[in-house]
Amino acid sequence: MKGIVLAGGNGTRLAPSTNGVNKHLLNVYDKPMIYYPLSVLMLGGIKDILIISTPDDMPRFKEMLGDGSAFGIRLQYMEQVNPDGIPEAFILAEDFIGYDDVTLILGDNIFYGQGFTTLFRNALKNHRNATIFGSRVKDPERFGVVEFDENQKVLSLEEKPEDPKSDFAAAGLYIYDNRATRIAKQLPYSERGETEITDLNKEYLKGNQLEVQLLGRGFAWMDAGTHESLFEASEFVKITQQRQGFKIACLEEIAYYMGYISKQELYKKGERMKKTDYGQYLMEIANRKHSEQYWEMIDKNPILELVQNE
Ligand code: TTP
Repeated sequence: MKGIVLAGGNGTRLAPSTNGVNKHLLNVYDKPMIYYPLSVLMLGGIKDILIISTPDDMPRFKEMLGDGSAFGIRLQYMEQVNPDGIPEAFILAEDFIGYDDVTLILGDNIFYGQGFTTLFRNALKNHRNATIFGSRVKDPERFGVVEFDENQKVLSLEEKPEDPKSDFAAAGLYIYDNRATRIAKQLPYSERGETEITDLNKEYLKGNQLEVQLLGRGFAWMDAGTHESLFEASEFVKITQQRQGFKIACLEEIAYYMGYISKQELYKKGERMKKTDYGQYLMEIANRKHSEQYWEMIDKNPILELVQNE
């Protein structure tokens, strides 16, 4: 399974902040936005990841994340010259995907909740054809809306419908088989001059090959594409982290629990940032002994739970 983080776009809704900086480099509380989607792919066990962004912004992503080895993953980069639509990711990534299946996550999407890792991993393991994730929203008319029956069979998909057939939006996380690129190449341009991910999903739906995984009320799904939602996401991360004492989307922590980097490496990374709470957190995790504290953490930490179960 290959992974793609789509982190291009114009970010017009975040101007003036995005006049000189790519949206996905802005902070969501204590770390850059792109850490959040990257953490999702890492938690799923996906190690080969392509970051797609604009030619102007690419150097900054490369500087920040490098070849991924700091996090035990393999990162590659691809430029998207114009934001011509989400499905274009599969065309740009054709060689990267090769003969594999592919998971795409939008660079401004944040997923968090107890059991999310397990749910996502199961979706990856059981996946055939195409899988999308449905999350209940208050304002479905702003999203791609997925309608399904009592067996969770997808009945329809509509992009920003005036009269939504359900309250479930398709979140910015999609798993496809190897046909995604071929289908993406055939999609028409919509009225707003882009190809639409909903149209790609509809192609799978036509063949009865689209499945939806529902995110229950214990999950938080947010996109951080407007000033309001970016601020809300930051508040959510701050409050959750402060209450629980665990960081959300801390890539080094995930790499450590996944067994990609050693305790010593984790400590060193923390030390380099020791003036920050982030750095101190890494050092603290590296210093934790395999003691009662460890078992206590298993209860609370979905990553550890998962690693233990494997
Ligand atoms: P959008 O939020 O729809 O677009 P945007 O990021 O350009 O923002 P705005 O509407 O404020 O101008 O995009 C959703 C995500 O997908 C976002 O993370 C950017 C990414 N994206 C691309 O990288 N390339 C594209 O061609 C499109 C359409 C989106």
